[in-house]
Amino acid sequence: MSSSKTKSVFVCQSCGYESLRWMGRCPSCGDWNSLVEIQRDVKGKSAKKHRQATLVKLSEVRTKEGQRHPTGIGELDRVLGGGLVPGGVILLAGEPGIGKSTLLLQLTACYLCQSAKNLRRSLLYVCGEESPNQIKIRAERLGVSIGNLLLLPTTDTDEVLQVLSREKGLSLVIVDSIQAMTTIDLSGTAGSVGQVRESAARLIDWAKHSNVPLILVGHVTKEGNIAGPKVLEHAVDTVVYFEGDQYGQLRLLRATKNRFGRTGEVGVFRMSGKGLIAVADPSSLFLTNKKEGKISGAVKTVILEGTRPLILEVQAIATQSNLMSPRRLSRGVNRNRLQLYVAVLQKHLHLPLYKEDVILNIAGGIRVEEPAVDLACCLAIWSSYKNKIIPQDWIAFGEIGLLGEVRRVREEEKRNEEARRLGYKKIISAKTVSNLREVISFLFSRGR
Ligand code: TYD
Ligand code: MG
Repeated sequence: MSSSKTKSVFVCQSCGYESLRWMGRCPSCGDWNSLVEIQRDVKGKSAKKHRQATLVKLSEVRTKEGQRHPTGIGELDRVLGGGLVPGGVILLAGEPGIGKSTLLLQLTACYLCQSAKNLRRSLLYVCGEESPNQIKIRAERLGVSIGNLLLLPTTDTDEVLQVLSREKGLSLVIVDSIQAMTTIDLSGTAGSVGQVRESAARLIDWAKHSNVPLILVGHVTKEGNIAGPKVLEHAVDTVVYFEGDQYGQLRLLRATKNRFGRTGEVGVFRMSGKGLIAVADPSSLFLTNKKEGKISGAVKTVILEGTRPLILEVQAIATQSNLMSPRRLSRGVNRNRLQLYVAVLQKHLHLPLYKEDVILNIAGGIRVEEPAVDLACCLAIWSSYKNKIIPQDWIAFGEIGLLGEVRRVREEEKRNEEARRLGYKKIISAKTVSNLREVISFLFSRGR
């Protein structure tokens, strides 16, 4: 089957496992018939052979750190740690329809108009998913002028590499998306692990050798047979996730890996009819409806996204259930944590929640991992069950332990500052109360 000169390997299309012989079942992930024969890239290998490996003294390495190019979108630069780095490869991952292409089109416009002052930049946008016509329509809708943007409508990685070797003086290359790219050297279909990995590897290799920043778009998919961004995370320099509620407006940009800066920083955007708009003061996004504070089951809290405090509203409903095992639904908070809140409230505040359906929601479609949200969640459930209103100028944060204790969370002072800045009068945290019972008696002592 394979000659002595070309090397064949079999790659599992589900998990990427490699084997020298064919097997009906992948020993790594257990999938059947998932191993596909691929020819090792002989051309690429021989090309690499001719490249002389050289030793470099660390003291003589020119640092790329000083050569950062801001993208012109402040929220994006904040996440990237200052801007694009020459030869740096960024993976922009997110669910389909979240706004990745929109963000990149806005980025190209900002990046090009920034460069008008100094040098002329040319950008290449490989559109594997949309036609130039569609991109033009979107650009018109966004009201951005990107006359200098070069579009390359193809899904063939080798064609892209040919163009890249021909076009000199590119200052940014965008590939939208990496799942659409294929190379004829492999037999797998577009989006399979083998194709995604190989296409990405060739493009990354080009970026590293030509010192041009490269952005790869990766769709997060739920099905296992299509390779998601996870298979590329190790190969790129920066992984940025774009997330949020598709049906809501809020979008968060979060770096989960960054070789050129810190992770944990978050960029906040709002999706509007005219594209993404940076939200400089995200806390104020949730404070528009003043009436909401007059309803039971709503509590404000302050979480930290990276270094940035964000004020959110936790909402809960506890209503009598007619089911044998009452419903526990949550949106924005892990369902296991909701179970924990219910158990703690039952045990330590003696709320008979075993008879109640409990539904918990974080307003704005944001997902919160931080335990600092615990106290507000418990209070929201309590408030709904007791039908007692928590005043709208009160705010609560803190982790809740199994003994009902309120624990300290990181950077409390920063949260306090943000709450005070936005006019909150009472802050309930581990500094003011030590357990849930105390919180409740504190609420009652104020005549509630
Ligand atoms: P898109 O960038 O195509 O998503 P992705 O590339 O991540 O798949 O975003 C598409 C969504 O964004 C679509 O549902 C419509 C919405 N949208 C707006 O609300 N306003 C706009 O100005 C644009 C361009 C898109
Ligand atoms: Mg897209």
